[in-house]
Amino acid sequence: MGMIETIRSVVRFAPVERDRTARRLARVANVDDLRILARRRLPGGVFDYIDGAAEDELTAGRNEDGYRRLELRPRVLRDVSALDPSTTLFGRTLPVPLVLAPTGFTRIADPDGELAVARAAARAGLPYGLSTLSTRSIEEVAAVSDGDKWFQVYVWRDRGLVAEMLERAQAAGYSTIVITVDTAVLGRRERDLRRGFSLPPKIGLGTLIDGALHPGWTWDFVRSEPISFANVVGKSVGDGGDPVTLSDYINSQFDPSLSWADVNWFRERWPGNVVLKGIQTVDDALLAAEHGVDAVALSNHGGRQLDGAPPPIELVGPVAQAVGDAMAVLCDGGVRRGSDVVKAVALGATACMIGRPYLYGLGAAGERGVDWVLEFLADGVRQTMALTGCVSIGDLDRGLVRWRGPAAP
Ligand SMILES: Cc1cc2nc3c(=O)[nH]c(=O)nc-3n(C[C@H](O)[C@H](O)[C@H](O)COP(=O)(O)O)c2cc1C
Repeated sequence: MGMIETIRSVVRFAPVERDRTARRLARVANVDDLRILARRRLPGGVFDYIDGAAEDELTAGRNEDGYRRLELRPRVLRDVSALDPSTTLFGRTLPVPLVLAPTGFTRIADPDGELAVARAAARAGLPYGLSTLSTRSIEEVAAVSDGDKWFQVYVWRDRGLVAEMLERAQAAGYSTIVITVDTAVLGRRERDLRRGFSLPPKIGLGTLIDGALHPGWTWDFVRSEPISFANVVGKSVGDGGDPVTLSDYINSQFDPSLSWADVNWFRERWPGNVVLKGIQTVDDALLAAEHGVDAVALSNHGGRQLDGAPPPIELVGPVAQAVGDAMAVLCDGGVRRGSDVVKAVALGATACMIGRPYLYGLGAAGERGVDWVLEFLADGVRQTMALTGCVSIGDLDRGLVRWRGPAAP
């Protein structure tokens, strides 16, 4: 064979992909790749708002490290041909033990914002938690998603406003409220402080330059309708029509006197499921059980509130053991692979939640970026189960994992 024939026999040109989003996603292999793509596409202030965390970002880093410290103990020759990663949460079937955590201001990553995320979640059959500080309203999201919708509650000083939001969420068919309890005041997010980040982003010289360097984002941003806190448009609390720093807004509007007694107030007003998000000790998980909530979400807000808080994965085992079957146990912070979900469930979690992974997807490639990350995580769950010899969620137990180094307490 001549040289030309030899070359011809090994070279295969892939057809040129015309769709830019598909081309971008074709080169993505994991969540970190999406993160890097998002960093390239989003203005620095927007990326840092999403990616950043409190103070030295120690907790944010440890959230991810916690999963890396867990080793899997694979069993082999177990016939995994009929593998089923589905589970049950609040009486509903989830195709994998995964929930999309609430994140505020989603439209700064992509003009479709919460609508894109809600649609992708519904397609994947996963619950989506809409933030109080969303940039699409309770009703707008309900109009595009017949999937399972949760509403995350920050407790305003104006309790009438909270009661009204609960009524709206119920009328719009949300199944679950998630009361976030780790935000008595806003954490000190130093990347945002350094940039003077406000919502909506202020246009100044720095942002103009940043915008010019990220023309795709800027074009989308200026073409779409202005961003506001969609759930409180027209209310006295300010709807983000004027730029405001998150700390000024939260510290003036949210009620720092919130206490356990208020949990009963919610129980009386909300007929659906109640989740307390931001539980960070066994003691508080037990108190939550006493107060009759349906689930705790072990969470430190992705390391965005108290730096130095423990990684949730380290709390899963002790909390699951302490509360038994009394409540579902969710956890979030640092989940970046399907194997992380498997590890958390093995330690006793009912499901994991993700925040940044879907925001990176949204910032990198819009709605299809969110689809991508949800498929990636579901595939990762299935693959890890197959490689560890587990055919159902019931097979994931404490024996599947081992802490490297000192065990979590
Ligand atoms: C940009 C951003 C905004 C967030 N906004 C909210 C919010 O409005 N309400 C809330 O309860 N949690 C909020 N969170 C926390 C998430 O619900 C979740 O706890 C966290 O993102 C999980 O960590 P992960 O990002 O490592 O997955 C936010 C997180 C991020 C990254």
